[in-house]
This record gives sequence, structure tokens and C-alpha cells, in this order.
Amino acid sequence: MSKQTLTITDNRTGQTIELPIEHDTIPAIGLRQLKVQADDFGMMVYDPGYTNTASCKSRVTFVDGDRGILRYRGYPIEQLAEKSSFLEVAHLLLFGELPAAAMLTEWNASVMAQSQIDRSLRELLKTFPAGAHPMGILISAVAAMSTLYPDSKQVHDSGNRLRQTVRLLGQLPTAIASAYRQRLGRPHIDPNPALGYSENFLHMMGLTGDAEIGPVLARAMDVLFILHADHEQNCSTSALRNIASSEADPYCALAGAIGALYGPLHGGANEAVLRMLAEIGDTKNIPAFLDRVKNREVRLMGFGHRVYKNYDPRAQIVKRIAYEVLEVTGSNPLIDIAVELEGTALEDDYFVSRRLYPNVDFYTGIIYQAMGFPVEIFPVLFALGRAPGWLAQWMELMSDAEQRIARPRQIYLGEAERPYPPINERG
Ligand code: ACO
Repeated sequence: MSKQTLTITDNRTGQTIELPIEHDTIPAIGLRQLKVQADDFGMMVYDPGYTNTASCKSRVTFVDGDRGILRYRGYPIEQLAEKSSFLEVAHLLLFGELPAAAMLTEWNASVMAQSQIDRSLRELLKTFPAGAHPMGILISAVAAMSTLYPDSKQVHDSGNRLRQTVRLLGQLPTAIASAYRQRLGRPHIDPNPALGYSENFLHMMGLTGDAEIGPVLARAMDVLFILHADHEQNCSTSALRNIASSEADPYCALAGAIGALYGPLHGGANEAVLRMLAEIGDTKNIPAFLDRVKNREVRLMGFGHRVYKNYDPRAQIVKRIAYEVLEVTGSNPLIDIAVELEGTALEDDYFVSRRLYPNVDFYTGIIYQAMGFPVEIFPVLFALGRAPGWLAQWMELMSDAEQRIARPRQIYLGEAERPYPPINERG
């Protein structure tokens, strides 16, 4: 077997070092030995946006962006989306295994038993101004839960971590639905723990649909949550791991992750896609819109991904669900625009040469709109689906002995030391 090392020669000095290779990776700290002067800081790697830096060893989610593969704990996303429920997938992400039947019943019951939110949280949700963005409200609500559950600071206690996790999974849908109805001036609807997770969420939102379409909507919601449940070290998960690395409680860490998710380049893309499709307005306007994308005036939202340089496997499933939902709710003219936009872009050299394909959020907005959700709440639905993944990554982080507080380095290019000028001598 070949030697599992990397030899590096520093051509400034002729110094050669040999670093161990493990999992196709070298330890970045090993480069620090490369110095020109003995008192130099030593070599670092420069990686804005962390495009080639592994921040952790994880056993939760596998993504192969070139081949369009996504697996949770080894199971292909396509099979989980077809056969599992969202809470079953949450169990898989959190504990590493799909639960047996009795365990699944117990797990569902334990999450649903936590679905009531504290009265003071309900009062807080009433205080936001009309028109407040639901993501800002969600961030505030989750951060506020830190004040309600101070025991959550026991982050090294695994039993405590589990308690906070179940509490968060149980309460998030209720807090979201309560805030949503408050915003519309409608009364809060209490959770019904006898319902399934997604069915109960739609019930509390008041978006259940009639007896015919209700089950289709509840299953679609469940599958969309499954598709969003984890995606390894993305922007929001990395934000969560960074925050939690300081041993902050999970509510603060989750609030930070939701903040990272809010941006239009990440979880805010589903909202941005729908606004983009509405702005295009008609299939005849697609060529002119794509010209603007290619002139770099706008981005084609819902396209492109840091990791996938192939069709995002989630996008294919979402597209199928879009048709299933529209079949029962009635068609949405935006689907025709989306399908033609996708087809035109996939034949255009600009997108082909950059390997830009639809991502998970290209079609989700169309489904959410058909289900009756207002566009501003779309990123909140992403956050609700992602919660088990964030919590699984948090649990993994907290039991990883190699992890330390996250603290990147910088390349300082500012002023060298200079004399302090008195105020009357400043320009
Ligand atoms: N529209 C037009 N051009 C694009 C797009 C897009 N959506 N995405 C990437 N490009 C172009 C870039 O301009 C760049 O071109 P250049 O090499 O000529 O300068 C090239 O493709 C590579 O793109 P990067 O910006 O380097 O890709 P990066 O990995 O940094 O960004 C991102 C990934 C943020 C997802 C990007 O593709 C994007 O902005 N997409 C639109 C927003 C979106 O849909 N986000 C959701 C992502 S999925 C998720 O978070 C759940």
C-alpha cells in the first residue's frame, strides 16, 4: 500500500515537511511548521467561504455533489422520502437508526407530548409589529425559549440534550403556527397530539384542506420536511456548530442557525424563487429574464449549489410533489413558468458550463403557495424541516472530543502600528 502522507516543500526556504493523510485530508495545523524566520507565525490555509475545509468528522449526512447523491445515515433520500415519516427521519438523524415500530410510536408520542408552548411565549408572539417577517419572529421566539428553559445550559449532560431536543421539535410548529395566526388576527389553535406531526402543523395553521385534499397536503408537507431535514455542513449548520462550540445553549445556537438560513442565498431562496417567478409573469418573458441573469443583473434563484454540480436529488422529488399537490389544489400558472425556465436554463451554455442545476428550493415555493402559505413564511417552513438536522449536528458536536471552540484565523492586511494622533491633528 502506498504511503499515506503528503510531502510539501516550501520553496522559500527549501524546508520539506511530511503530513499524514487521513480520509483524503491533511491536518491544517501541520502546515504551521513552515516558517521563513523562526519567530514567524507559520503557514495557514486561506479559504474564504470554506470551499475546501473540513470543519468536523460527521456520521450524519453524506452528500456527493458531483453524482447528485444525498443520504441520511446511509439511507438514500429517495427511499426516505418515499417510505418514511418526518419524525421517523428525525429519529434516524438524531440517533443513527430507523426506529422499530414500538420505538417509533413512543418517539412520535414523546415529541407530540411537547407540543404546547408556554403562555409567555404566546404573549411574546403578540408583540411584533404588523408586517414583521416570520423569520425574524422565529429567531426571537427560539432565542426567548432559552430564557424559559435555563436547564438547557447543561449542554454536557446527554439526557438534558435529549430533553431540549424533543422540546424543540415539539414546540417549534406550535410557535410558528401561533405567530402566523397572530399576524393574521386569527385565534391561536391548540395542538392536537393525536395527529401526525405535519398534519398537526397544518391543523394549527388552519390550512388543513378538506377531507379529500387534506391527506395529500399532510403527506406533501411531511416529505418536504424530510427533504430539508439535514444537509451536512451548510451555512446555517456551520453557524449552529460555531455558536454551540462556545457551549451556548441549543436555543441560542438554533436561533443563530435560523438567522443564517434567512438569507436569500440559503433558506430565503424559496421565497425569492416565488417572487422571481411572479416577476417573470409569463413564459414569453423567460428569454429576456435569462439575459439579465447572464448579464449578472440578477441571479436565477433556486439554481446553483455550493456542493451539487449535478441535479439536486431533492429537486427531482419536489418537482414530482408539486404536480401531485397541484392536481388536488388546482393548477398554479407559476409551475408552467418554472418548468420552462428550468428547461431553457438547462440548455443554455451559461448554466451548462457552470454546472448550475435546480436546487431543492426551485419548486418548493409553488407547493407552499398551493397549500395556502403566504410567501414570507416559506423560509420558516425550511427551518422547521431542518430542525432535526441542526439538533443531530449539535448532539454530534457536543459528544466529539476533537472539537474545540470555533475560531478561524485571518490574514491581517491592515495598518502596521502607528502613532496615536491627538484629535486636533486628524484629517
Ligand atoms: N444564477 C446565475 N449565476 C449563478 C448562480 C445563479 N443562481 N449561481 C451561481 N452562478 C454563477 C456565479 O456567478 C459564478 O459565475 P462566474 O464563475 O462566471 O463568476 C459561478 O456560477 C459559480 O458560482 P458561485 O457563486 O461561485 O457559487 P457558490 O458556491 O459560491 O454559491 C449559491 C452557491 C449561493 C447557492 C449560488 O449558486 C446562488 O446564489 N444560487 C441562487 C440562490 C439559491 O438558490 N440558493 C439556495 C441554495 S440551496 C439551499 O441553501 C437550500
